[in-house]
Amino acid sequence: MVQHTPTSVVTIDRYIIEQERLYPEATGELSGILYDVALAAKMIANKVRSAGLADILGSNESQNVQGEVQAKLDVLSNEIIIKAMDHGGRLCAMASEEEPDIIPIPDGFKCGKYVLLFDPLDGSSNIDVNVPVGTIFSVLRKTSSGTRGEMSDLLQPGHQQVAAGYVIYGSSTMLVYTTGQGAHGFTLDPSIGEFLLSHPNIRIPDSGRYLSVNDSYEQLWDENVKTLMRCYRGLERDHKALSVRYVGSLVADFHRNLLGGGVFAYPANAKRKLGKLRLLYEANPLAFIVEQAGGAAYDGTRRVMDVQPTELHQRTPLYIGSKREVDLATELLSGVAVGVGG
Ligand code: AHG
Ligand code: MN
Ligand code: MN
Repeated sequence: MVQHTPTSVVTIDRYIIEQERLYPEATGELSGILYDVALAAKMIANKVRSAGLADILGSNESQNVQGEVQAKLDVLSNEIIIKAMDHGGRLCAMASEEEPDIIPIPDGFKCGKYVLLFDPLDGSSNIDVNVPVGTIFSVLRKTSSGTRGEMSDLLQPGHQQVAAGYVIYGSSTMLVYTTGQGAHGFTLDPSIGEFLLSHPNIRIPDSGRYLSVNDSYEQLWDENVKTLMRCYRGLERDHKALSVRYVGSLVADFHRNLLGGGVFAYPANAKRKLGKLRLLYEANPLAFIVEQAGGAAYDGTRRVMDVQPTELHQRTPLYIGSKREVDLATELLSGVAVGVGG
């Protein structure tokens, strides 16, 4: 594996090819999926950047399966990804936060051996106020016998992912992905329209600086969660006090914690027994990334990537980020001491 230093100009396409060469048996199909995701990301970035100008702000009043009013950019991003991915011959099915059911590959197009699950626009409530939003994606290998993808191909535990990543449309547009060989970050150079390697082999600090949680739900948390949050705030178990940073876009909060060290928590609460975030296209892909960077992701009972999904849009509580803070969550919420939790 060629060791790249941040000074060498490496495009994402070249990096994908170099990673593919690590696997002599690789057919190039997975690489093709990553190329297409990068293309879709550039197209969405272009729309997000001009959202304030082209009057595509605000909702278009349609409802998605989550019952949330869809922002126009949600719908547009969803369509961009589907159109970029549905004819490449590498996928046999897709699933999106914005679509109630499995997205089949149109008749007449070749079916491949992978499935793609995605949140086309994460944090969409922030679009109108110019706060960073993102895209999250997850790739699984087809396991069913037929040519076309089936629900069983989508409902696989996170440890079966072959690739995952996210795009953050922030002060710059960055794409971070993993194929199980580390987590790597690429920054879009808009002057040439290329994602360039900027963060090779990302490592999350073992101990966090930041706590990302919406504590307006505090009264709805159970006692163990309340104790955990007091620890994170330096009020118990002599844990250092973390700085609270909560943007309200999972991708933005996660990305800051990945680079700077920290924990993002969306606990279960009395009104949302499984929390708010979706397992298959929010928690699992970010869990793959964070574990590849040396961090951890936990759902309050077990490792997120060990959960066996039963529904496409099922939700999960989520504690994700620096290992020390997530281990503390594991210890306090399940009573199982893991490593140095304190
Ligand atoms: P999405 O826009 O894809 O529906 O995701 C929104 C999610 C996530 O991005 C964020 O962390 C969370 O909603 C914020 O929820 P609260 O407003 O309840 O804190
Ligand atoms: Mn989301
Ligand atoms: Mn979304």
